[in-house]
Amino acid sequence: MADSTAPTVYYLGNKAKSAELIDHVCTSHFGTSGVVLDLFAGSGSISRQFAQSRRVIANDIQTYSHVLCTALLMGEQHTGERALEVVTTKRFRDTCDFLKTQFSRAITAERNISPDSDPSEVQQMLREIEYISKEGNRYAIVSLFGGRYFSMEQACELQSMLEASRNLTGQTKFHFLAALISTASRITYTVGNQFAQPIKWINTDGSVRWSTVKKFSNKRSANVIKTFIDCLSIYSTNYLFSQDNTVSNMTDLEAISKFGSEVSFIYMDPPYGREHYSRYYHVLETIALGDFPKIDNKNTMIRNGRYQSLYSIRSLARKAFEALLSNASRQNIPIALSYADDSNGDKVANRVMNLASLIEISRMYYNNVSVINIHDRKYSQFNSGELSSPKRDNSEVLIVAR
Ligand SMILES: C[S@@+](CC[C@H](N)C(=O)[O-])C[C@H]1O[C@@H](n2cnc3c(N)ncnc32)[C@H](O)[C@@H]1O
Repeated sequence: MADSTAPTVYYLGNKAKSAELIDHVCTSHFGTSGVVLDLFAGSGSISRQFAQSRRVIANDIQTYSHVLCTALLMGEQHTGERALEVVTTKRFRDTCDFLKTQFSRAITAERNISPDSDPSEVQQMLREIEYISKEGNRYAIVSLFGGRYFSMEQACELQSMLEASRNLTGQTKFHFLAALISTASRITYTVGNQFAQPIKWINTDGSVRWSTVKKFSNKRSANVIKTFIDCLSIYSTNYLFSQDNTVSNMTDLEAISKFGSEVSFIYMDPPYGREHYSRYYHVLETIALGDFPKIDNKNTMIRNGRYQSLYSIRSLARKAFEALLSNASRQNIPIALSYADDSNGDKVANRVMNLASLIEISRMYYNNVSVINIHDRKYSQFNSGELSSPKRDNSEVLIVAR
């Protein structure tokens, strides 16, 4: 059962676990009277925490983050109830029934797959799914992601909700869409709940991966409507936050230029891995945009033209950090920059930047730089000896520069 403290989505490198500590450190350095710019807001976990005691501007380049943060930070009372009403209407049920009838062959083929099935049944199911993606209908969730990231039946239900959202307006629409994005993140049956690669049913030699069929059978039958109703409650109490929050959907440098003069500090949690968020969460982006994207990669169904962040490109990341910190310091804005060696559970070697370089860049643009070690519900400031050769196993730090 989701509630108003549950994560909005499963998200690489999200700061949900350390949100309170980060807030505490920021409060001790910057107080709570001013406005904070959460420059790389992602799933919104830090913005939601900050919003409990100060005004927040949440920014991210991805549209799904904009939807999540708008639902989180700019809540209105009763939008959850209005969003819930939608899925009880006859119109919604009719759309759902229509889609399930239209795609019934694939739904039935998929539903019949069990660990006892004949390999030919799995092949037949894959042909049905393939056929739908070539068929030229206007239903992106079913055509592109059905049978790949969700079961066909789940895809029809998600699609019906997306269709219903098109008639909504204002904050109810954001609340509804945010709960839909949270639902997709919870029910997808991929490893790590991200969308870089669909589950493979067949090995290269043509044999069926029965362990995969078994492993994901529960997920494939997860109840979409029930999950959606749970997810609505993530966003239901946030109308209690300040009504002066702002959410924006631009690059980091554009956001600094637009909001720099209003904010008392910037919280920065940029990507440090080589995984592009636009690649890992493209399905959420398509739900947020409600479009039918052009796609060249028919295995992953990742949308063409996705945003490629400089922070995730080894040869460009350092320059991107220099531009980021020089832009913030030029406007005299103090910063709190999060860094985690292994926030994504990957190897330190996969990190695009290391801590020593970040400290060095911070010192190029700021006179006063302190590094705070955040772990196990505690935090402590690094002393000068530790700073000269920062340890690799400090899983999470906050660089505060002013
Ligand atoms: C580590 S995640 C942030 C996680 C977030 N603090 C949370 O708790 O969910 C980094 C975010 O930066 C965003 N991003 C990457 N490059 C960007 C850019 N140049 N401008 C704005 N956002 C960017 C990504 O879309 C991603 O959501």
